[in-house]
Amino acid sequence: MAGKRVLILGGTTEALESAERLSAAGQITVITSMAGVTRNPRLPAGENRTGGFGGVSGLTAYLDAEDIDAVLDATHPFAAQISRHAGDAGSRAGVPVLHLTRPPWRRRPGDQWYEVDSAVAAAAWLNTATLGDGSTVFLTIGRAEISAFAEIDRLRYVSRSIEPLDFAGAPPFVEAILARGPFSIDDERQLMIDRNIVCLVAKNSGGAASYPKIEAARALELPVLMLTPPATPGGESTSSVDVAVAWVHGTLGISR
Ligand SMILES: NC(=O)c1ccc[n+]([C@@H]2O[C@H](COP(=O)([O-])OP(=O)(O)OC[C@H]3O[C@@H](n4cnc5c(N)ncnc54)[C@H](OP(=O)(O)O)[C@@H]3O)[C@@H](O)[C@H]2O)c1
Repeated sequence: MAGKRVLILGGTTEALESAERLSAAGQITVITSMAGVTRNPRLPAGENRTGGFGGVSGLTAYLDAEDIDAVLDATHPFAAQISRHAGDAGSRAGVPVLHLTRPPWRRRPGDQWYEVDSAVAAAAWLNTATLGDGSTVFLTIGRAEISAFAEIDRLRYVSRSIEPLDFAGAPPFVEAILARGPFSIDDERQLMIDRNIVCLVAKNSGGAASYPKIEAARALELPVLMLTPPATPGGESTSSVDVAVAWVHGTLGISR
């Protein structure tokens, strides 16, 4: 049984990659924590646990009880609460925390982005936009915030999410596509053409995996309503998995 113990807060490809690389040498017990919102998540290397900790105090108690030596917060850029909790719980428990962040995408020539700070603001924008009645908007922000668009019923929607939509809170004219990326640019472009999409709503999550839809929208000269990410958490951070892996080894005093 490996002596040193690291907790990875997961839900991203970077968390999977970090778990894979940190488990490889067999010197560290790697535990990846997932929120439990996805029913068949990709399983990380090492151990895993599922479900919330019960706020900062619950996470602090977990770090103590499980004898965790370091925390790697590799959660999604829009998962701001758990990142905040990680920093606070690490301080309380005296456990070092590193946030593995993902730089947001930057606007490129040809992009027609309208930046908004929430799904509610995106819905308000759509409500006043000069989009013809019955036009179809492509929602790629997950299913949790779909209800923000429920009132804007002069538009149609295509919503893509990993987990099924709750139609009770969804807009009346919505086609739900259940799919998990990554998707190719060609497939994204074809989907937008086939569904007569006039506008894409996306989270500026950064990274390569979900970028093809942005490239497809650019190629088709479609406007993108881009949700800006929450502020990056305070404390130590890096955007490199290499640096994060080296930080864990350094923090645990493991030479490689
Ligand atoms: N938000 C997105 O757009 C998005 C996209 C892709 C993947 N994800 C992943 O989905 C998960 C939930 O995202 P969210 O936006 O709902 O997070 P959030 O708003 O930051 O967190 C809400 C609560 O969910 C629990 N939680 C979140 N991540 C957890 C984890 N990795 N392990 C254990 N508990 C966790 C915590 O509950 P307690 O307070 O009870 O500890 C947290 O307070 C994250 O792990 C994130 O990486 C999110």
